[in-house]
Amino acid sequence: MNLPDLNKARIRTDKKVEFKNNSYNFPKAFEGKKFFLKTYGCQMNVHDSEEIRKYLELLGFSETKELTMADIVVLNTCAIRENAHDKVFGYLGRCKHLKHENPDLLICLGGCMSQEESVVNEIKNKHPYVDIIFGTHNINELPKLILEAKHKQDIEVYSIEGDVYENVLYSRDSKITAWVNIMYGCDKFCTYCIVPYTRGKQRSRKLSDILTEVEELKQNNYQEVTLLGQNVNAYGKDLEEPETFANLLEKVAQTGIPRVRFVTSHPWDFTSEMIDVIAKYDNIMPYIHLPIQSGSDRILKLMGRRYTKEEYLRLFNEIKEKIKNVSITTDIIVGFPNETEEDFLETLDIVKKCQFDGAFTFIYSPREGTPASLIKDNVSLKEKESRLARLNELVNQYSLANNRKLEGKLVPVLILGISEKDKNKLYGYTDTMKLVNVSGDKSLIGQIVNVKILAAKSFSLDGVSE
Ligand code: SAH
Ligand code: SF4
Ligand code: F3S
Repeated sequence: MNLPDLNKARIRTDKKVEFKNNSYNFPKAFEGKKFFLKTYGCQMNVHDSEEIRKYLELLGFSETKELTMADIVVLNTCAIRENAHDKVFGYLGRCKHLKHENPDLLICLGGCMSQEESVVNEIKNKHPYVDIIFGTHNINELPKLILEAKHKQDIEVYSIEGDVYENVLYSRDSKITAWVNIMYGCDKFCTYCIVPYTRGKQRSRKLSDILTEVEELKQNNYQEVTLLGQNVNAYGKDLEEPETFANLLEKVAQTGIPRVRFVTSHPWDFTSEMIDVIAKYDNIMPYIHLPIQSGSDRILKLMGRRYTKEEYLRLFNEIKEKIKNVSITTDIIVGFPNETEEDFLETLDIVKKCQFDGAFTFIYSPREGTPASLIKDNVSLKEKESRLARLNELVNQYSLANNRKLEGKLVPVLILGISEKDKNKLYGYTDTMKLVNVSGDKSLIGQIVNVKILAAKSFSLDGVSE
């Protein structure tokens, strides 16, 4: 089988990225009206929704969690796998229904699906009731589009990446933990992945702008920041005066904010210098999400991941050796086109060797426009589902075993709120990013407290505050 032509996919504009300031002077034209905002996909989208929410609030809308109460619905969509698409189209069906009852309802679609030509065409042809389609590069144009809405479909999507905007305001989900974008887009072009097409080329923010945002969050008593990027380790490579993620991380740690996290790390750009910085600062959390995708060198090559199983293991072991008490999670795709049983056994083997604290596992989903989608596949869906089940069984076994190691121990937990499942309990995360349901007083919300772990499950821990 031939390797997909990686270079074919690397179409990049030579457009120079500009650093611009957002301005805010929207009329409060929608006082008393309600918005319903639904977010699909990754942390990037979750954070973008915080920007969208701010704009809606500035226009005078207030939030409702009831779709049927809404005057405007905004869907912030994800395109990573086919089932993400299906969910959105399913939801649009419900919105269409509501629009029959309330013709004034405004329906807006943003996020990664809007950046796909085929999706935009489908909405144009089959979903004329969608009023506004905006992309990932012009979120800041949403207020204008809403103010000018004509109840006739309006599509404003940039086909190339936008500029880097500073001075962006957010209506954040939490007053305790905050997302901080350090870069936009992705230049890695893994052959299965749509993100470089929906998010554009890598654009890093300037180090000083990131630090200003973190300082401000600290002054507002935020306890934790998570530095966000599709591939944080490549931070700064694209800047006119190149920067490194190790340096950024060190500077962020030096602000003294109690907890610093980052997602996502690509093994390719992970330097020893970075590992040393993480090990050196107590406020950089000992938790790394390090997607492997596959344990087979043959498949890794076809995926365009640019590391081998051995290289991944070497990095994994260096992290484990240098960072005390570190927890590592991963992402794995099963059923990449023509994945053989031998390839899959290599994946199971690396899971056994690494004994991950957790893993997000997916069945490969062909994405239109990506090189991998052109490969003819000879593996049945049934086989892929069976591999996924085998993999999950192993992954869960190690998650549980790792969690059990914490039973009886005292661990630092940042308490975030009241548990959804059990209103008598609080919930929070350990330094190693494990979810804990905690017995304790509500006054602990927003604090980092020592929690004694009483019981471990595969996906959470139970504990009591000391
Ligand atoms: N930038 C991150 C991942 C972003 S997408 C990184 O490189 O690690 C999150 C995960 O979705 C990926 O790690 C991958 O495991 C999965 N994924 C991406 N494209 C996929 C596809 N076409 N089919 C199935 N899973 C996919
Ligand atoms: Fe997609 Fe992540 Fe690869 Fe970028 S690094 S192409 S976001 S899987
Ligand atoms: Fe989905 Fe876009 Fe994130 S495709 S995973 S929302 S970058």
